[in-house]
Formats: sequence, C-alpha cells, structure tokens
Amino acid sequence: MKSLIKRIGESEKKYVSEVLDTDFRSSKGSMMMTRVEQKFAELFGARYAISHVNGTATLHSAIAAAGVEAGDEVIVPPLTMSSTAFGVLQNNAVPIFADVDERTFNISPDAIRNCVTDRTRAIIPVSLYGLPCDAVEINKIAKEYHLAVIEDNAECFMGKIDGNIAGTLSDMASFSFQSSKHLTSGEGGMIITNNEEYANKVRRFSSLGYAGVGAMKGKITKKDIQNPDYERHCSMGWNYRMPEICSAVILGQLEHCEELVQRRIEVANMFRTEIEKYSWLIPQYIPDGFENSYWTLAVQLDTKKIGWNRFRDKFIENGGDGIYSAWQLTYLEPMFRDMALQGREVFFKEPFNIYNPKRYEKGICPIAEKLQPRMLQFKTNYWDFTDAEKQAEILKKTLKELD
Ligand SMILES: Cc1ncc(COP(=O)(O)O)c(C=O)c1O
Repeated sequence: MKSLIKRIGESEKKYVSEVLDTDFRSSKGSMMMTRVEQKFAELFGARYAISHVNGTATLHSAIAAAGVEAGDEVIVPPLTMSSTAFGVLQNNAVPIFADVDERTFNISPDAIRNCVTDRTRAIIPVSLYGLPCDAVEINKIAKEYHLAVIEDNAECFMGKIDGNIAGTLSDMASFSFQSSKHLTSGEGGMIITNNEEYANKVRRFSSLGYAGVGAMKGKITKKDIQNPDYERHCSMGWNYRMPEICSAVILGQLEHCEELVQRRIEVANMFRTEIEKYSWLIPQYIPDGFENSYWTLAVQLDTKKIGWNRFRDKFIENGGDGIYSAWQLTYLEPMFRDMALQGREVFFKEPFNIYNPKRYEKGICPIAEKLQPRMLQFKTNYWDFTDAEKQAEILKKTLKELD
C-alpha cells in the first residue's frame, strides 16, 4: 500500500459540488441521501440502509423501531461511549449493564444471559474499538428470549466474523460518521437492517413521523405536500436526517473505504508487534474467525507495574502522540450515579435488575471496573504511513525504557 493516502479524496469533493450545484433543491436532483443509502446497503449486502444525522440518533431510532417502550429493559455494556445507554434512556427505557469479557473487552454473552428478565426487550452489544461483538452467541440468547439485537458498530466498520461483515448477523446495526470514525463526514450515521418493518419504523421515527416516507424512501413528494388535504404525520418523530452534504462525503468515502480500513489495520498490527513483546501490556484479544477493524488499538496496561500516567507521560516525552484512556464506565458517570436522568427514572420499576442494584453504583460490572483504569487506546488513523512508523519507533523506545 502506498505511504500517503488521502482521507478525503476527489470523489468526496465531486459529490459535494454536485449537491451545491443543485442549490439543495430535491427537484433539481439533490438525491445524495438515496444514493449513499443504496451504496451502503450494497456494501453490507443488507436490504435497507437508513441515514441519520449521527450515530446517537441512529440508536434512538433503532431502539424505538424494535418496539422498546417506557420501562422496558435494554441490556448494554458499560465500557463504551455513553450514547449506547443514552439511546435507551431517550426511549424512556432502562439501561441494564452487563459486564464485559476480560480479553475481548466486548460485552460478555454469559453476562447478558444473567441480565435477562421478563422486562428485557433488546440487547445492544457494542463492537468496541473495532472488534466485532460476539453476534453469533448474542443472537442465540436473543432468539431464546425473543429479544431484538441492535449492534452499536460506531467503532467497527468492515470488521468480520467468519467472513460475515459485522452488523449483518443482527436485527439492526448502527454506524457513526463522526470525525474520528473509519468513514467520516464530520457527523453522520447509518442503520442497516434486512427487516422491512424495522426499516419503515426507523425511517418514520427519524423523519418527523411522515406518513409518506418508508424503508426505501427518505423524502415526501412535492405532489403530496401541495395537496391541502394531505396529512403528513402518522406518528411522532424526530428530524434526524443526514444532511445532503454529509451524504455526498460518505458516498465518496465508500469508494475508497477499503484503503481507509486497511490503513488502520496495518498501523495497529505494527504497534501490536512491539506491544506483544511485553507481558505487562495485553492488547485486545481477537478470537478465531474475528477480524478487528481497529478504530483504535486498545491495550490493557498492568498498572501495578507501570502507572497509567507514567506510561502516557513517558510516551509523550519521547515524542509519542496522545494516548486516550477508556471512557468512564457509563453507569458511574455523575448523571447515572446521581440519577440525574431528567425525570426518566419514573419509568424504572424497582428492582430493575435481577442483581437488584436499586441504584447505578460500583460493583455492577466488576470486570469492566477493573479494565477501565488500565486501558490505553492508541490512535490508528495515520494517513501518512511514515508518521505511523515514527510512532512505532517511539513506542518501541518507550517500552524498552519502562520495562
Ligand atoms: C460506541 C459508540 N456508540 C455511539 C457513538 C455515537 O456516535 P455519534 O458521535 O455519531 O453520535 C460513538 C461515538 O461517537 C461510539 O463510539
């Protein structure tokens, strides 16, 4: 692969110009939303792709489409960005936190099983740091208990399980195009599904509850709205449509998505080679048959040997780029800890978990609590490969000095 790749290529610019040339008038053919949805669906071999303004709105829509109602329980991991649980709260449902696997850092199917109650309606596994969640096992549990599975794949684009693209084994999967993600238009998101009913509901929910939209139709027609008797809204909805400019950028990104993903994999593997020489660093485990798309390279640091700050400071002192920590566990964020849930806790019928924590507090997910302070996330998005090689050298030196 060539050393320098362009994150934003010529196609992105061409499609953005096309949008600008239409003055944003759909009557002039401004149809990027439809084009990007078709191309995204094609790539995944999915029947439907429905674009959104970001990868949080996608979750809000998907959870609603799955039929989750106020007071229902939805199982989520705690080691993730907060949007996963926010989507549940936005539906006035109750996030139930299932612990993660110590090696893959992804939600553990066994822990999910232990969290199922007669109020559970859905599971939202996250494919963390680019590694697909264990969709096969999770879907077995879901089938047994008649639950919907919505993969939060904001961080995983083109990860694979036994050759299946991550997101294609579950009822729905959600993607994000925020600026750090594999594909980006600054902000944006997508849901894929093969289920027509879900697709229709997602579309309507994300498009103001319009009667005239559907799985394959993102806009209502001029003819309809010119009719004074036209009734637009058959349900309540949000305006979560992805802007045309963002759609144009993602359409262009899809044309060279393989090199964008491959670059992250190459960088992660180069860093991994150095990291694997030391027993006090344990990179995210990749089970047989799984392919990590490496949004970042996540590594567990033995903080008894080397403190997190010491590692970071040494790396930076040697010229390393910033290292990210893991997010605070969602249920330990002040809003959960203090139940600052904007009145939504009225929907929580206590006890809301078979483990019966009447509050969100320490002890719910011990493995995630152990992992979170030890996690190091190394950037993988180096478009100039020589920059990544320099970082690998700096990493090598840092590891030697700290050992
Ligand atoms: C796991 C996960 N879910 C959801 C989101 C939310 O996506 P967005 O920022 O597009 O709303 C993100 C990241 O931003 C994420 O990492």
